[in-house]
Amino acid sequence: MHKKLFIPGPTEVAPEVLAKLATPMIGHRSKDASKLQREISEKLQKVMFTKNPIILSTSSGSGLMEGSIRSLTAKRAIVFSVGAFGNRWFKMAEANNVAADKCESEWGHPTTPEMVEKYLSTGKYDVMTVTHNETSTGVMNPVEEIAEVKKKYPDVLWLLDAVSSLGGAKIEVDKLGVDVCIASTQKALALPPGMAVASVSPRALEHGKQVKHRGWYLDILEIYKYVETKDFQYSATPSLPHMFAMHYQLDRILAEGMENRFKRHREMAEFMRAWAKKHFALFPEEQHASVTLTTITNTRNISVKALNDELGKLWMQISNGYGDLKEKTFRIAHMGELTMNDVREVTSAIETILPTLKA
Ligand SMILES: Cc1ncc(COP(=O)(O)O)c(C=O)c1O
Repeated sequence: MHKKLFIPGPTEVAPEVLAKLATPMIGHRSKDASKLQREISEKLQKVMFTKNPIILSTSSGSGLMEGSIRSLTAKRAIVFSVGAFGNRWFKMAEANNVAADKCESEWGHPTTPEMVEKYLSTGKYDVMTVTHNETSTGVMNPVEEIAEVKKKYPDVLWLLDAVSSLGGAKIEVDKLGVDVCIASTQKALALPPGMAVASVSPRALEHGKQVKHRGWYLDILEIYKYVETKDFQYSATPSLPHMFAMHYQLDRILAEGMENRFKRHREMAEFMRAWAKKHFALFPEEQHASVTLTTITNTRNISVKALNDELGKLWMQISNGYGDLKEKTFRIAHMGELTMNDVREVTSAIETILPTLKA
């Protein structure tokens, strides 16, 4: 028995996927390792709707966020932030001595095409970062609208944090014109934490050559060099257990069908939003609410901790609000392996617990 996770990562992992972690090891410089990574790349290209090459990183998603802003910014980056994870990207720029500015939306609100236009039209930037799905506020940014503006500025690289949405929401990397699309394994891809993946455009790889100090382990160009010249291998020793599990899980994802998967996530999100509005209130602007998690304003002033303790007795776990939003909001994730039955189960459990909680 384990607690069913309604937290925005790590998420539930299917038992047969967990079993793949125990596959006997292979040499990471073998032909089998090349085949493993090549096949993972081909499957991820389908999940990301891209022909761009794929890189893997034996780090969580933050590793590729830091690696990309550091190794690809030659001039100045503009970081569009809608919450904690957008702010993290700005901190990473500062910590790596990368010139950057931040445009932060009021929490609960999106990055707008107007904001993007305002900053890119200055001509000051060669990189922009956007959070697709902000896991603190539960905002999903309007990337299609942002893409329309971005197309006017083809010289600017677009780095997209899709850490908590890839595999649950449609992100058409090539159609949008995203140069680097980053995701972690432990969210909507429903794998254990410990690896990150990204698509990288050829122009991003070319642009990065201008950056002198790109680091090494997380240098996007260095990681890609092994894909290109060593037949889909990895620059250091990768987490092979994750790769075995990912290879298998991507088959499961593609067998469900991407459109079916997106529909399942949309249905859960619609159910959760209606429930949140009936019993509490939605934290983000509704038209920009995430499809992979719902951030709920604690209008009843309940103890979220006490609620979670009670849910724990029923073998379920949700998330408190992030950072300053702790106890003011709480978050219910509905991504990866979860289904309508699961969201019905957790919400009806909460309804049973609510009257027992002191306001
Ligand atoms: C939107 C978003 N970006 C980045 C991260 C950081 O990812 P990781 O914890 O895999 O480094 C997270 C983690 O929760 C996230 O939700």
